[in-house]
Amino acid sequence: MVISIDSPLDMHLHLRDGRMLDIVAPLSAETFAGGMVMPNLVPPVTSREDVRSYRKRILKAQGDERFVPYMTLFFRSDYTPEFLHSVKDEILAIKLYPAGITTNSEGGVKGFDIEELSPVLGVMSDLKIPLCVHGETGGFVMDREAEFIPIYEMLAKNFPDLTIVMEHITTKEAVAALDRYDNLYATITLHHLYITLDEVAGGLLQPHLFCKPIAKRPEDRDALSNVALNAHPKVMFGSDSAPHPREKKEAPGCAAGVFTAPIALPALAQLFERNGALDNLQAFVSDNARRIYGIEPIEKEVVLENSPYLVPEIYEGTVVPMFAGQTISWRVLSVG
Ligand code: DOR
Ligand code: ZN
Repeated sequence: MVISIDSPLDMHLHLRDGRMLDIVAPLSAETFAGGMVMPNLVPPVTSREDVRSYRKRILKAQGDERFVPYMTLFFRSDYTPEFLHSVKDEILAIKLYPAGITTNSEGGVKGFDIEELSPVLGVMSDLKIPLCVHGETGGFVMDREAEFIPIYEMLAKNFPDLTIVMEHITTKEAVAALDRYDNLYATITLHHLYITLDEVAGGLLQPHLFCKPIAKRPEDRDALSNVALNAHPKVMFGSDSAPHPREKKEAPGCAAGVFTAPIALPALAQLFERNGALDNLQAFVSDNARRIYGIEPIEKEVVLENSPYLVPEIYEGTVVPMFAGQTISWRVLSVG
């Protein structure tokens, strides 16, 4: 069987910088028409100059591939209205991280004081700049996302015209919140559709599946699958593909992040086929994002075929993908 996806989009992607950027940018650009690039560099992307120069480095790294990097800024509560006006046409969204919650988020928001956040959120709402949020509290690791839901609700209620994207949701609580507020949307990763905490830590520890938010319970994965496989209109694919060098993963103090970009489309096709949902893949990996973000991606037709694909053990001797060394049942046949 062969299927064709029209302009697949990855709405949550870490491309890093330097050598890692050179390795991973072509891999996303090979099969995706565009991706929303996270700003958690060191230091983070916080100025117009940062956005412009990072975009240039990405375009250089992706080489001849046709791919649109949709840029983001790292949320800061001290951005001025003038600055937000000046940068709005060069970014697709602003990404908010709670301080210290994940990789390179030390400069994020502390305490979620609505008084402190309101000026910037108000301008974002007026300018129609979406807010993307890493929604976890500093609580017990399995409860962090569910505990964050009241903060999403507070933001959604106070800023009804602001598009708020709950990034990489992992719980049934986040899925339930989607339908309570018109302005709440979500991205869902590949790995959170495949794994629960059991695959990470139920047997021998699997560092390449360790990420934030951590994978949760079977009932959480079921809730995510339900909305993804049915292409609920408020969810979109965002891989959260987060490459780290092998020595940072296979180590005490393992870095959080699952590297999925190069295998994402075949692995999604496998999952959607197993669940009899292939007809909904186009909406999940492209159409919903176009509508939610109001974007018209470049034309790129990706043809996938259900024939065996042996996933590489490692890319450039540096970064290990999900399903490394395993065979999945779909592969990319052509990109046009
Ligand atoms: O697992 C993760 N890795 N979660 C995040 O939120 C950030 C990401 C990274 O940048 O490595
Ligand atoms: Zn991320």
